[in-house]
Amino acid sequence: MNQPKVEFYRHGLEQEEMEACLATLRSLFLTTGPACARAEKALAQYLAVPEVVTVATCTAALELALLALGVGPGHEVITTPMTFIATANAVLYTGATPVFVDVDPVSGNLDPALVEAAITERTKAILPVHLYGVLCDLKALRAIADRHGLWLVSDCAHALEARRDGLGSADLAQAACYSFYATKNLTCGEGGAVAVHDPALAERLRVLRMHGMSRGAADRYHGPYHHWDMVELGRKANLSDINASLLLSQIPRLEANLARREAIAQRYERAFAALPGVDFPRAPQGCRHARHLFTIWVPRRDEFLAALQGRGIGVAVNYRAIHLLSYYRQRFGFQPGDFPVAESIGQRTLSLPFYPGLRDEEVERVIAAVTEAARLLAA
Ligand SMILES: Cc1ncc(COP(=O)(O)O)c(C=O)c1O
Repeated sequence: MNQPKVEFYRHGLEQEEMEACLATLRSLFLTTGPACARAEKALAQYLAVPEVVTVATCTAALELALLALGVGPGHEVITTPMTFIATANAVLYTGATPVFVDVDPVSGNLDPALVEAAITERTKAILPVHLYGVLCDLKALRAIADRHGLWLVSDCAHALEARRDGLGSADLAQAACYSFYATKNLTCGEGGAVAVHDPALAERLRVLRMHGMSRGAADRYHGPYHHWDMVELGRKANLSDINASLLLSQIPRLEANLARREAIAQRYERAFAALPGVDFPRAPQGCRHARHLFTIWVPRRDEFLAALQGRGIGVAVNYRAIHLLSYYRQRFGFQPGDFPVAESIGQRTLSLPFYPGLRDEEVERVIAAVTEAARLLAA
């Protein structure tokens, strides 16, 4: 009997989000307006920071954060090759150069012990990615940044709910960047945000997200007409109220959703711990894992992937090391062997279905399929 596919991801938007979106569609403001302002306030409260600025994507959040901190042509930004291309592309959009540093073989996160050797007189910022939902060693990275007078910008696309040693995901960095892309723990289809501790930086980000205009549409609407000015060259990267209206009512459910993903992760980890040939990343002590992705590390990954797909299991690869993608190889001359740990993870990594709406029987089907594939490929 053919069983239905276990989808790689299904969103968990509820009636409340649909009604909030409808209310926006019936209101005056479709672009950045009151729904963005409400989401910014709620996110600032959740992250315990003074200011959050919503933007169109996390890619834009990263680019604008770097621009607002003065990163540009001639500068270098230290980051990881074990990430989605958005992280390094955002550095390129500013005119700066991404400088990759290899990752820790247990967590897949940027290895702070390797960062200092990559710093030059051109380095302006360190850009860690909190892979799969585990915070990097922010205290160590902050100390390095302080020693060398660098900015710390966090790519928190996976890590909204993460904590480590008493710190939240927005802590210690000048700017922490979030994604509300379709498969993220908090989603509005496409969206992003920057969390900052300095209100002046928030103001600069609000100008940069709207072409460099001195007043946004909502400001221009209220009160008598005032001319706006263009004070610098920004981007068009604001979030619409249509998207933002989906965010607010999901925030109170973040903890319950995380608890459900944690339970699924523990079930997966128990099942795979005893399975020869199947490994998975592990979080260091003191971490609250945000549990964004559940990945296994397996030999002969592409055959493994095909075996799972053949059994009706949705899969993804997060990520093949980005320095070996054609564009990065051609532009920077990267070769296999440049970042061996990231490359080894990139060859073995495979992400499994993992979201709060995944039913127990689906979790068991995934485990059965992984177990079968492991035995088949070991034979
Ligand atoms: C680690 C990481 N950084 C950045 C991004 C970019 O996010 P967005 O699609 O919101 O631009 C993603 C998206 O998947 C990501 O996984």
